[in-house]
Amino acid sequence: MRVLTGIQASGKLHIGNYFGAMKPMIALQESEELFTFIANYHSLTTSKDAKLLNQLTFDAAVDYLSLGINPEKTTFWVQSDVPQVLELYWILSKFTPMGLLERAHSYKDKVAKGITANHALFSYPVLMAADILLLDTQKVPVGKDQIQHVEMTRDIAIKFNNEYGNIFTLPEHVVEESLATIPGIDGQKMSKSYDNAIDIFMEEKALQKRCNKIISSSTPLGEPIEFNGCNIYNLASLFLNPEEQTKLQTRYQSGKEGYGHFKKYLKELIWNEFTEAREKRAYYLEHPDMVKDILSDGAKKMQKIANAKMAVVREAVGLY
Ligand code: ADP
Ligand code: TRP
Repeated sequence: MRVLTGIQASGKLHIGNYFGAMKPMIALQESEELFTFIANYHSLTTSKDAKLLNQLTFDAAVDYLSLGINPEKTTFWVQSDVPQVLELYWILSKFTPMGLLERAHSYKDKVAKGITANHALFSYPVLMAADILLLDTQKVPVGKDQIQHVEMTRDIAIKFNNEYGNIFTLPEHVVEESLATIPGIDGQKMSKSYDNAIDIFMEEKALQKRCNKIISSSTPLGEPIEFNGCNIYNLASLFLNPEEQTKLQTRYQSGKEGYGHFKKYLKELIWNEFTEAREKRAYYLEHPDMVKDILSDGAKKMQKIANAKMAVVREAVGLY
C-alpha cells in the first residue's frame, strides 16, 4: 500500500507529537511503502523569515531521522526539491471550484485567528492535493483537522478523471481513532502553543525541571496516592507495558513514595526512551552533509516518479 505523510516543520517536537503522530507514522515503514516529506512550500504560507524556514526544515529532517525514519525503507525528501508538484498544483487548480476552497475549515480558522488571507493560504488544499495525487497515494494518515483536505483531494481528482480519463488514484484518509490525546504538564492537551509541553530533546537537567513542574494534587508523604487522573502517572504509563503499569500503581498505593519520586521516575523513563534518538541526533548534527545526502536521494527517487506522472498528466490535458 502506498502511504504518504507530510510534515509541517514547526520547531521543537514534544512528547505529544511523538506518541500522537511520529511513532505511529514511523511504524508504518515496516509494513507499507512509506513516502514522507517536509512540506516547506506549505510552511511558506505563514513564514516570514527565510533563515528560520530553512533551519526548521533541516531540524525536522534531523529529528525525524533520529527518531526512526529509515531512508532505506522510506522515501524521505523536502517538498521544494521536487518542484514538479507546483505544475500539478496549477493544473489541479482548474478542477477546484472556488466554493470548495471557501468551505475549508483550516483556511477559515486561520482567517478567524487574524492571519491575513492571501492566495497561497487559500489555495493550500490544492497544493496538498498535488502532493497526494502526484504519487498515486492510496492512504494518507492524518490528524482530524486534515481529513477535509484529503476529501477535497478526492473531489478534485474525481473532477479531473471525469474530464480526462482515469489518471489519478483516489486517496483515502486514515485517522487513528484509538490515539490518545497526550496531556501536558498542566493536564490540558500538550501543545507548543500552551507552554505545557515536554520537548523530546531537552537537556537532562531541564527535563527534570520540566517534570517537577507537572501539576499534581497534594497528598502528603506517607499516604497512598491516587494514580487515576494523576498527570505524572498518565505520562509515565505511555512508556510502560501493562505489567510495568501495575507495578507503578502498586508504588502509588503503597504510601511509601511521594510525587517527587514519581517525577524523578518519569524523567528517567523519558530520558531512557530517547537515548538512541539523542545519539543519532548528535551524530547527524555533526554530519549535516549526511542529512543532505539522504534528502537528496529521496528527492531523486521522487523526481523519477513525478516526471513519469507529469508526462501522463501533461499528455492528458494537451500540454505536450
Ligand atoms: P502543537 O499542538 O504542539 O502545535 P502540532 O499541531 O504541530 O502540535 O501537531 C503535530 C502532530 O502531533 C499532529 O498530528 C497532532 O495530531 C499531533 N499532536 C500534537 N499534540 C498532541 C497531543 N497532545 N496528543 C496527541 N497528539 C498530538
Ligand atoms: N497540511 C498537512 C498538515 O498541516 C501537511 C501536508 C502537506 C500533508 N501536504 C500533505 C499531509 C500531503 C499529508 C499529505 O499537517
